[in-house]
Amino acid sequence: MAGTRDQVSFLLNGVRHDVPRTVPPTRTLLDYLREDCGLKGTKEGCNEGDCGACTVVVGEMSGDNDHVVYRAINACITFVPMADGKSVITVEGLRGPNGELHPVQQAMVDCHGSQCGFCTPGFVMSQYAAFRQWHDECDSRDPHHDDVLSPNDDELAGNLCRCTGYGTIVTAAGAALDGGEPGWDGNRQAMDAKALRQLPRAGLALQHPLGVYHAPQSLDELAQVYERNPEATIVAGATDVGLWVNKQHRDLGVLISSLRVAELKRHYLDDSTHGYVIGAAVTYSEAWAAIGRYWGDAGDLVRRLGSMQVRNSGTIGGNIANGSPIGDMAPVLIALGASIDLRKGAALRRLPLEDFFIAYGKQDRQPGEFVEAVSAPTGYPLRADLRCYKISKRFDQDISAVLGCFNLHVENGAVASARIAFGGMAGIPKRAKAVEAALLGKPWTMASVAAALPAFEADFQPISDARASAAYRLQVAKNLLIRYFHETTSGVPTRLVGRQHDIYFRLEEESEEQSEDA
Ligand code: FAD
Ligand code: FES
Ligand code: FES
Repeated sequence: MAGTRDQVSFLLNGVRHDVPRTVPPTRTLLDYLREDCGLKGTKEGCNEGDCGACTVVVGEMSGDNDHVVYRAINACITFVPMADGKSVITVEGLRGPNGELHPVQQAMVDCHGSQCGFCTPGFVMSQYAAFRQWHDECDSRDPHHDDVLSPNDDELAGNLCRCTGYGTIVTAAGAALDGGEPGWDGNRQAMDAKALRQLPRAGLALQHPLGVYHAPQSLDELAQVYERNPEATIVAGATDVGLWVNKQHRDLGVLISSLRVAELKRHYLDDSTHGYVIGAAVTYSEAWAAIGRYWGDAGDLVRRLGSMQVRNSGTIGGNIANGSPIGDMAPVLIALGASIDLRKGAALRRLPLEDFFIAYGKQDRQPGEFVEAVSAPTGYPLRADLRCYKISKRFDQDISAVLGCFNLHVENGAVASARIAFGGMAGIPKRAKAVEAALLGKPWTMASVAAALPAFEADFQPISDARASAAYRLQVAKNLLIRYFHETTSGVPTRLVGRQHDIYFRLEEESEEQSEDA
């Protein structure tokens, strides 16, 4: 395609690195670093995004091109071309000019945070991402800047260790922040920003015997290349697609990346509809602060989605388009009354999100049509009546067995509107319409809730699988409605988490002040 490049270029530990054209587009960054670049410090454990052994830090220019935002990602489910135009830092890149250990590394030594050492580089890199964000946030920049906010304090939830028991590792993570920034690392931000701005910016069109990879830069370019290649696979953060290569050894043929399309990276409050719009290539980490601000409990749900590394790469658009019946974003967005925007060429189509899911593995999407955005109404003050209950074996890094999202409005003691959606209860994310009908117009009392419970059997015939039995799923779904009743009638606040809580509300206050001043 005119004006595109056929070579991937990124910074590797601060130095420009042009990837040989012989490297296949679906070569993982992990394999490339270890086998092609000889950087063996980054380890392979699970090769599917679960253990964090392959964690590296990726820096990219903030949305306003003002500064570099550093985030931890899993190199095992990242394709080499996805590093294009970014700064990739491996554990080898932390040392000082004379081989000095970085404070994060030194803290792991001082606190005995390592035994066999296999997981250690991954932990060090997760901690380094937090270290970088911590020091970058402490600069004069507006701490409210969404890009700068680290999604939450769970930096280490995506790293597993078999030996140490984690206590010493967590102690080391805190100790690393106590000291200052070493000089050689303090100016990384400025040096990377300067070098990143000098990297070539044109879109990519890689033709390789083992696959084709397009990275268009605009919505129109993406639409054109997709119309020409309707059989292509769109790839965003590759936290699903990466496993198709690593685990299923699928040959993906033509890949089209959405990550460089500026319009798909936008997320904003649409003043005309007062809805929050999330572009299909926006990651969880980028949208997390706003999701919590506009949709309350949905913020807590996102915090539990995957790990920090997965949230730094995975997109909300990918979760929706993947169409998994146990994907976490569809139920909460359906409960919020979300719409999905689909584009084919210049044609834009909008439909209620719940209508996008037709049957297991079948969505309402035509060949050459891609997800442009999802949007849902916001409600000031925070939608205290939206609650999301994720039932899984682990708090972090676990797929839902059942996810229940309840969004009821009660007026004058009666249920005025009800949107209830579940994941894990059917072959698609699905509304509980019989339960909603049983509640609508009724007094919001435990008696009404009890009378509505049998309607769950009309809405869902769940399956039994490794995560839960059908009977368990049905019982849990009913219990979640009872829990929702008690939480919303006994004044239990939504569980906005961590330090974001006060930032949300501070932003709330500011926006209210601004509207008063206006
Ligand atoms: P990709 O992998 O890039 O793509 C996913 C699918 O969407 C593909 O079919 C792709 O073709 C399609 N696609 C992407 N963008 C578009 C577009 N614009 N238009 C059309 N099609 C598109 N998911 C959960 O819901 N909850 C979890 O707790 C969770 N935990 C995880 C833990 C781990 C360790 C891993 C590896 C994954 C986990 N996931 C979880 C799954 C995955 O992270 C999410 O589904 C994520 O949102 C996918 O986004 P992505 O950008 O990586 O999508
Ligand atoms: Fe386990 Fe990448 S090797 S997350
Ligand atoms: Fe051995 Fe963590 S030190 S796996």
